[in-house]
Amino acid sequence: MKPIAIALTGASGMPYALTLLKELIKTQDRIYVMISQAASIVISMETDLDLGNDTKSIERNLSQYLGAKDGQIEVFSKNQWTAPVASGSNPPRAMVVCPCTMSTLSAIANGHGDNLMHRAADVVIKEQKKLILVPRETPYSAIHLENMLKLARLGVVIMDANPAFYQQPNSIQDLVDFVVARILDHLDVDHNLLPPWQG
Ligand SMILES: Cc1cc2nc3c(=O)[nH]c(=O)nc-3n(C[C@H](O)[C@H](O)[C@H](O)COP(=O)(O)O)c2cc1C
Repeated sequence: MKPIAIALTGASGMPYALTLLKELIKTQDRIYVMISQAASIVISMETDLDLGNDTKSIERNLSQYLGAKDGQIEVFSKNQWTAPVASGSNPPRAMVVCPCTMSTLSAIANGHGDNLMHRAADVVIKEQKKLILVPRETPYSAIHLENMLKLARLGVVIMDANPAFYQQPNSIQDLVDFVVARILDHLDVDHNLLPPWQG
């Protein structure tokens, strides 16, 4: 099975991204990861993870943090145009941008391809694979909403970081798990984060 690509951008919400990756390594042989410069800053502010600067250090530190096997996580740098995700002939099975900034959302909505993450999303859209964006901003301006509407009309799943409370969460991790469970459901990836709602 082709890998899933996960892109982390510099919005608040890194616990969502790290929980998503922790879940994916349980079932996926290989996961492609792209991390924007702003995301590295937000990771250092929101978590105890120190990624380092160069791509190889980021790959090693992230793999260690997640408990991933050797080669399970492959990190691509922002100008790595030779990466498989840059080509329409080898798109990932699906791509998730989590968390997704308004600036990356705009770049994707407007077809920019000036970094690998934007190009990969462009490829996923044109090859009609699944693209899930997990935006976080409040309030949304009309620009943000128009960009989201444009993407939703193309079939992109806009799944904002918006946990529910009917599961009676006991912790922040419970809230994070709620959002990640919905992302995994849309990826058709099995998980035990929370039971499906039975009514
Ligand atoms: C601590 C912190 C939190 C941020 N939170 C958000 C956010 O929730 N949503 C957002 O759109 N931008 C947020 N930003 C701003 C983005 O990081 C900034 O617009 C950046 O240029 C995005 O670049 P990227 O999309 O390449 O990651 C935040 C920045 C910092 C430092």
